[in-house]
Amino acid sequence: MIQPLADKIEQHLQKAFQSLGLETTLGRVVPSGQAEYHYQCNGAFKGAKIKGCSPLVLANELQQQLSSLQTFADVSVSVPGFINIIVHDACLAEYGNRIFEDQRLGVPLNELQQKIVIDFGGINIAKAMHVGHLRSSIIGESLQRIARFLGDEVISDIHLGDWGLPIGMLIEEFKLLYPDWPYFKEGFDEDTFESSPVTIEQLEILYPQAAERCKEAGAREKARKTTTDLQSGHRGYQALWQRFRQVSIEDIKRQFEPLDVHFDLWLGESSVNDILPALLKKFKDQQISQESDGATIIEVATEDDKKPMPPLILKTSDGSITYGMTDIATIAQRYEMFNPQCILYVVDNRQSLHFEQVFRAAKKAKVAEDISLEHIAFGTLNGADGKPFKTRSGGVMKLQDLLESAVAKAQERIEEADLGADISAQEREEIAKEVAISAIKFSDLMIPRMSDYIFDLDKFVSFQGKTGPYLLYTAVRIKSLLAKAKEQGLTPGSITIEADKQRDIILNVVQLSRMLKVSYEERAPHHLCEHAYALAQKFSTFYQTCPILSNKDLKQATSWLALANLTLVCLERILSLLGIKIPEKM
Ligand code: ARG
Repeated sequence: MIQPLADKIEQHLQKAFQSLGLETTLGRVVPSGQAEYHYQCNGAFKGAKIKGCSPLVLANELQQQLSSLQTFADVSVSVPGFINIIVHDACLAEYGNRIFEDQRLGVPLNELQQKIVIDFGGINIAKAMHVGHLRSSIIGESLQRIARFLGDEVISDIHLGDWGLPIGMLIEEFKLLYPDWPYFKEGFDEDTFESSPVTIEQLEILYPQAAERCKEAGAREKARKTTTDLQSGHRGYQALWQRFRQVSIEDIKRQFEPLDVHFDLWLGESSVNDILPALLKKFKDQQISQESDGATIIEVATEDDKKPMPPLILKTSDGSITYGMTDIATIAQRYEMFNPQCILYVVDNRQSLHFEQVFRAAKKAKVAEDISLEHIAFGTLNGADGKPFKTRSGGVMKLQDLLESAVAKAQERIEEADLGADISAQEREEIAKEVAISAIKFSDLMIPRMSDYIFDLDKFVSFQGKTGPYLLYTAVRIKSLLAKAKEQGLTPGSITIEADKQRDIILNVVQLSRMLKVSYEERAPHHLCEHAYALAQKFSTFYQTCPILSNKDLKQATSWLALANLTLVCLERILSLLGIKIPEKM
């Protein structure tokens, strides 16, 4: 295992602080805010307060001790007491070489490895997927990759919305259309259709129709009653609902395929149905829940709440199980199945109140025991009008349509950029797909997740600037460089540093472990996006003035080549943690 460079530097600083009778935590270093230095330590300010001297005096004392160490090329102090560090080139080069050799690129596993459930995707069957689901899928996929890489045992669950009122509404709609279907017959005992009589296209047409119909109270009441009957075990409705589920899951899997989004579990809200009665009874017996106007609720407000905190409704007055109750029961189920340390819910920030209520209720009902429950909220993907992104006709954007428009745009750009002259039409199509997906995923992940952002395909699919395509292009360029070098018989050698451009690359690479740690702790992939973009830029600057293949100095050429290769493996690793694939050619 390679000790991260920042940790190694910190160790030196900690020793120095300790030798002056101060706590080691003061030795924390961060990348320097000034270009001429690599790292800085601000511990002298707090240390001086404890010692009762000026920060400058303390910083100078520390500097005395540190400047003789081999790790550093220079340690200096600037007013009013910052300690500035320049790492020795030999040390940086050694790090570069060791990281290059290391499968994990110098990234240690988490000290504390956890078992975590990540609940993301959250697609509703029979309803069109909306952009909130897209964001959840992209962010959730990246978080699961990051956590796994750092050693967590991750169980991802799509937690399908498959059990609420929309299903009752759809069943009613089908009943109107096909009153003769066996599902609606008294004493139904078998689904006699060989293949599904329901298609996804039909669900997509019928759902909005059903929703429209249910605006009217009578129809709504009927749908409610049907939902309750379904949930209470009506066999015909359950058989029909299985058909909805089956075609929807097939469709969702097909849509997620190109996005490279994966779930370990395809459970849904319905999967807890059997444990609901016992849980409801337990809550009632233990007086955790109450009856209120015929509904069953759990009070979750506390005295120091600053905002209104309504009770969580578990069961409505007409007997339907709520979204909140299925979430509570799902926690109990996950506890039984996996006993995880932590459950992450990657869901739209518009559901913050819901999760606050659910988490409080789960604690109160002691279903979560020691599980830490975290809502990983995110902002909205908006259209140019600042409202949640819709299609031109004002409908909900379907994932497939969104991808298709991105692919078309990518194709245009590939033509314009005159890329891949030697590439077949079929390969081009594949490349356009990967470019499109990188564009959509990267532009989503690079935004700090709580922020809203505007959907701007032109910007996302550009080969310039902070975009997925730019990163793919950089990586592919290095791949082809390596291939050409190989043809010339040139193989990566040992990295040495002779100029800023090379040093800058290594300084980025050695920071990967810290960057990942922050991304993991904050559940925030945007740090990785920044890091990858900075690396790609540093590489471009280097490559512009250091033409590897025409360099006659063999030792230098192989060192440069190693640096290019190191850049590539780092970009590959980061992009894969973001869930982005790199094409072979471009
Ligand atoms: N299906 C829900 C929706 O579309 C999202 C589910 C999120 N996960 C959860 N455990 N509640 O709003």
